[in-house]
Amino acid sequence: VRHLLGIKYLNEADIELIFETADNFKEVINRPIKKVPSLRDITIANIFFESSTRTKLSFELAEKRLSADVINFSASQSSVKKGETLIDTVNNILSMKVDMVVMRHPNPGAGIFLSKHVEAAIINAGDGAHEHPTQALLDSYSIREKLGDVAGKKVVIVGDILHSRVALSNIFALKLQGAQVKVCGPGTLLPKYIESLGVEVETDLRTALDWCDVANMLRIQKERLDISYFPTTREYTQQFGVNKALLDDLDKEIVIMHPGPINRGVEITSDVADSKQSIILNQVENGVAIRMAVMYLLASKIK
Ligand code: CP
Repeated sequence: VRHLLGIKYLNEADIELIFETADNFKEVINRPIKKVPSLRDITIANIFFESSTRTKLSFELAEKRLSADVINFSASQSSVKKGETLIDTVNNILSMKVDMVVMRHPNPGAGIFLSKHVEAAIINAGDGAHEHPTQALLDSYSIREKLGDVAGKKVVIVGDILHSRVALSNIFALKLQGAQVKVCGPGTLLPKYIESLGVEVETDLRTALDWCDVANMLRIQKERLDISYFPTTREYTQQFGVNKALLDDLDKEIVIMHPGPINRGVEITSDVADSKQSIILNQVENGVAIRMAVMYLLASKIK
């Protein structure tokens, strides 16, 4: 594997290798001296055509912990504003001797397209509503850390599945590792093909929560929504929002996840997001070790 374009292109052994490598890096970044020289001669460009907090900072920190040279590109402050194309933009960046590109782009397949036109290793940091592979890896890694294993665990992904690259990558990753996966959300936010991915649909949130070990709560992506077919925010929260009373009424303690950013009070209340059942900040912490592992493994393929 020369690139990380999606979980679709990985197998179970690839994921296990990434997790074992991340275990080592997690130990490193908890030491007083958090840096290793593994990527000392590698230059990495972080190219973001869409906004990001966690993914962008986490990649940059991971690159710095590995001693790579790092350049950051944000489309909103670049010549993309003057009409420069994706290929021209990236080729100009690569001519400065860049070995690896981490890219977030609003168009599904943008990373795949780029990998066919440039020499550098490409990491997909989110391409439209398609895939977000490092998010799915850190999510599974966080489940493994909390519950000991992913195999056999029951995971429900709740919310806006239709527009979510996190949902698709999580479904691929969780299925590869032997988890049982359900999705739960309004019919208007579930893609027609969802059951062909081997997941069950549950439209009642309480039934889904009674069933699961882990609930991964997704953000409602208002920026990608056709507002005319969406339930109102109030209706959504009433039917699919998780609150403390709902969780306290279950006969077991489930694990709560969220990829962020959170719409507090919409898909999840603050008392749940900040509770001891929530591993939301553990997910963010694990993102650094996972991204270090991915970049370390891909760098070993660079000639
Ligand atoms: N989880 C995630 O992708 O967050 P950002 O959009 O802030 O990177």
